[in-house]
Amino acid sequence: MLVLGVESSCDETGVALVDAHQGLIAHELYSQVELHAEYGGVVPELASRDHIRKTLPLIRQTLADAGKQATDISGISYTAGPGLMGALLVGASIARSLAWAWQVPAIGIHHMEGHLLAPMLEDSPPEFPFIALLVSGGHSMLVQVSGVGQYQILGESLDDAAGEAFDKTAKLLDLGYPGGPALAKLATQGNADAYHFPRPMTDRPGLDFSFSGLKTFALNTWQNSPQNEQARADIARAFQDAVVDTLAIKCRRALQQTNLRRLIVAGGVGANLHLRQKLKDDCKKLNAEVYYPRPEFCTDNGAMIAYAGMLRLQAGQVDDLAIRTRARWSLEELEVV
Ligand code: KG4
Ligand code: ZN
Repeated sequence: MLVLGVESSCDETGVALVDAHQGLIAHELYSQVELHAEYGGVVPELASRDHIRKTLPLIRQTLADAGKQATDISGISYTAGPGLMGALLVGASIARSLAWAWQVPAIGIHHMEGHLLAPMLEDSPPEFPFIALLVSGGHSMLVQVSGVGQYQILGESLDDAAGEAFDKTAKLLDLGYPGGPALAKLATQGNADAYHFPRPMTDRPGLDFSFSGLKTFALNTWQNSPQNEQARADIARAFQDAVVDTLAIKCRRALQQTNLRRLIVAGGVGANLHLRQKLKDDCKKLNAEVYYPRPEFCTDNGAMIAYAGMLRLQAGQVDDLAIRTRARWSLEELEVV
């Protein structure tokens, strides 16, 4: 079985081909970062229009990379939500229409399930059950994963997602868009002892997060600082340390609470090297294993959508001819595979 996957939920067009035996055989990504940079954030209408321009050429390119023809494809998966409605509709319409034209089954995939399964694309994939820390630009959550489609949300962000907090803090420090990677880079030059930020919601039981207060804390700290390059780096460092520590405390709690010994980390913030190192060290102490996708599959990509699509199509799950997309969609509503 050869599955074509299409991701278009936000500002990246991702296309990939996954084969049931060979695994991932080709993937292409087009990032709209430059398009949105001058506005300081994603402009939904521009995102949709750009997905229209890029999706078909990327599909052609991915097929060419793999030396495959349209007739080799046996199923198509696409991101059906959650995400920006217009952007989702572009990928879904193109993918669903191609599946109809090529007479192969199609299935809509939950974007966060894609992220959650991305570590399965690596050489030593985790076995079920495990805890998943999903930290992207739109969502932050801890999920107990018993199998494909068997997801129990243990905690989630009550306000800003972790990536959103990185982006907003980066913006107020004038680091441009998208801010997460820029802030992480600057943090390496910061002095860890210069400032101390709170670790929100760690002083009470539970696995929910709240990150919006950290950006206000960063703003106040910046305004009361010398406002020079060193202060900027010190604040970036203190902010990153606070987010990483908070996430690590909650991961530890989730592992202890469920008695599970496997943790996977996915979503854009999962590319953060400081977070990866901290969770690796913590898991070692807990006798637990931590798994990550390679950094390029932490952020949005077509490979994770093709992979999730393959698992569901192999299990016989198929969507009808309607093109359905959802801006909001809980992981807990998914069908079990
Ligand atoms: O998963 P993703 O590509 O898109 C969503 O589904 O939202 O995540 C993007 C988010 C952005 O907020 C971005 O700033 C953040 O992930 N991000 C990072 C890093 N790389 C990406 N945050 C911190 N450190 C990084 N290295
Ligand atoms: Zn994502």
